Amino acid sequence: MSIISKDISKAAQLLSAGDIIAIPTETVYGLAGNIFNENAIRQIFKTKERPLFNPLIVHIAKNRALTTVARHVPEKAQQLADAFWPGPLTLVLKKQDVIPDIVTAGKDTVAVRVPNHNVTQDLLKRLDFPIAAPSANPFGSISPTKAAHVDHYFKTKIKMVLDGGACHKGIESTIIGFEDDQPIIYRLGAISLEAIEKAIGKIALKNTDNNTPNAPGMLDRHYAPSTPTIRSNRIMEDVLKHKGKRIGVLTFMQVVQHESIEKHIVLSKSGHLEEAMAQLYDALHQLDSLNLDLIITEIFPDHDLGKSINDRLKRATYSS
Ligand code: TXA
Ligand code: MG
Repeated sequence: MSIISKDISKAAQLLSAGDIIAIPTETVYGLAGNIFNENAIRQIFKTKERPLFNPLIVHIAKNRALTTVARHVPEKAQQLADAFWPGPLTLVLKKQDVIPDIVTAGKDTVAVRVPNHNVTQDLLKRLDFPIAAPSANPFGSISPTKAAHVDHYFKTKIKMVLDGGACHKGIESTIIGFEDDQPIIYRLGAISLEAIEKAIGKIALKNTDNNTPNAPGMLDRHYAPSTPTIRSNRIMEDVLKHKGKRIGVLTFMQVVQHESIEKHIVLSKSGHLEEAMAQLYDALHQLDSLNLDLIITEIFPDHDLGKSINDRLKRATYSS
């Protein structure tokens, strides 16, 4: 029997009983559990094979006061919440004592967001606790944007994937933390840097070169297909360099042709970054399922959501 289901009341029952399930959000599917149930939280880490030092994001219902989770809300955090929630923005704030240490990996901060997805908002309304949910993929691999992706990863390990269709945004939330009340971007994501700056002015980007920053989503190799994957801004040259291999190609809008290219996915024929972002992970899942020798991805225009897409592709690939 399939674990994929649209039954929201069953999802609520399972979570209330301390089980973990996958839930849809507008960014990617999450692997969710009751934040107050230690067994459930442990099960999330175990199922993902995620190290316990890597904290989880707490997802709250629209009507829940942020102060039930965070003990201090800097002015700019409030402005961001007002501008982007419900939506793909995660705020890292000083935590309330009630938030268990295991959720925050012992940190005194908590990552929190209000997801913009009807199914999951409906689910949260039925629960009297927030849910912790990292992306529903084994640690280091590509995040799921469809129920079928989660099913493929965790078929025998979880009881249910709550099906909410394909995720509209398609990459993870933008994470913003505060140091001395000043905002700083920990992880680029589904809200562009430009959109954030429009709302609150200039913002710094956490140095992503070092390997153990505050957001291990920034680890060098992450979001990665199992097929060797390289990035290129001269796709044809790289195809020729590897001719004879079975190659998959992923481009923004450009179409390329060569007999070695077994599968070519164009993310947005009309050249829209938003559309390309929504298709990105599904395309990587598709290419990765073909047992190719090599995947070559294009380097995106480095502005707006192209910057966020490049961030993910960089971590998914070896630079060529
Ligand atoms: O869009 C998303 O954010 C998805 C959906 C399911 O909400 N979730 C997601 O979770 O991407 P995850 O666990 O895959 O990535 C969350 C990142 C991790 O890199 C984690 O280290 C970081 O957030 N994080 C969580 N709590 C933190 C904290 N207190 N301080 C700094 N970073 C934190
Ligand atoms: Mg993740």
